[in-house]
Parts: sequence; structure tokens; C-alpha cells
Amino acid sequence: MCLGNICRSPMADVIFRELAERAGLGERFEVTSSGIGDWHEGQGADPRTIAALQRAGYDGSAHVAHQVTPADIQSNDLLVALDRSHERELDAMGGKNVVLFTDYDELATDPDVSDPYHSDDEGFDAVLQQIERGCRELLTQLSER
Ligand code: 4NP
Repeated sequence: MCLGNICRSPMADVIFRELAERAGLGERFEVTSSGIGDWHEGQGADPRTIAALQRAGYDGSAHVAHQVTPADIQSNDLLVALDRSHERELDAMGGKNVVLFTDYDELATDPDVSDPYHSDDEGFDAVLQQIERGCRELLTQLSER
């Protein structure tokens, strides 16, 4: 989960699902993403997100932005927050298995995946690289469970 569900969590959603597929583990995971806010509900991912995903070999064109609901909190086994404000929000909504994404990125120097919304292509690529690293580690850890 992130703030608007058009940049960070769609990247994590698309990348995690694709890495799981490539590892032959696609059947084991049901991956969704959502945002705290409803500003972009029903819209596609930010064009800069789709472009960054495309540069890295992923297809983000099918994403539809979605605001988190109480049902999402109940129905997902693991809730992954892209920054600490989303972690607090998930906690406040009664989320049980809430984790912080950067706990899966050994190179992270900041507990938050920075919001690229006001940045440029370079910023989107940097966020994508961090999200790709974290998704690889998250997949490794979850596939060992
Ligand atoms: P995201 O980025 O949380 O990574 O999807 C943002 C998207 C939209 C807004 C803020 C952050 N917004 O204010 O609309």
C-alpha cells in the first residue's frame, strides 16, 4: 500500500507478481495493491510509473488504482506498507500482518520508499530499482515459508 496507488504500490504489485511468475510461483500468491487516498480510484497507474516499469521490462498498463477498504485489510494475509505513514494507517485500520517494505531492502538508508510523484524519470527509475530489490527479497522470504 502507498498513498495514491498510482506510483509505488503499483510498481511493487506488478514487479512482485512478475517475479513470482518467472520463478514458477505465480500460483502461490495473490497480489493486490491499494492507496490511502481515493483521488485516483479507477484510473491507471501514473504514465511515469508505466514508463519506468516498461524500461525495466515490466508491464504496468493493466493497473487500476484502488483505495484501501476494511475488506482489503481483513482479506490479505500480508499488508506491505511502502512508507511509515502507510504502516500507521494500516495499523489504525486494524491490520494484523503489517510489514514495512524497506525491511526487505538491505540497501535502504531511509525506512520510507520515497514518494516519486513530484520527481522525474530518474527519480521513478531509482524508486523502481529499490522496489525491485525489496520484491526479490520478499519473494525469497515468502517462498521459504
Ligand atoms: P504513490 O504516489 O503514493 O506512490 O502512488 C502518489 C500519487 C498521488 C499523490 C501522491 C503520491 N497525490 O497526491 O495525488
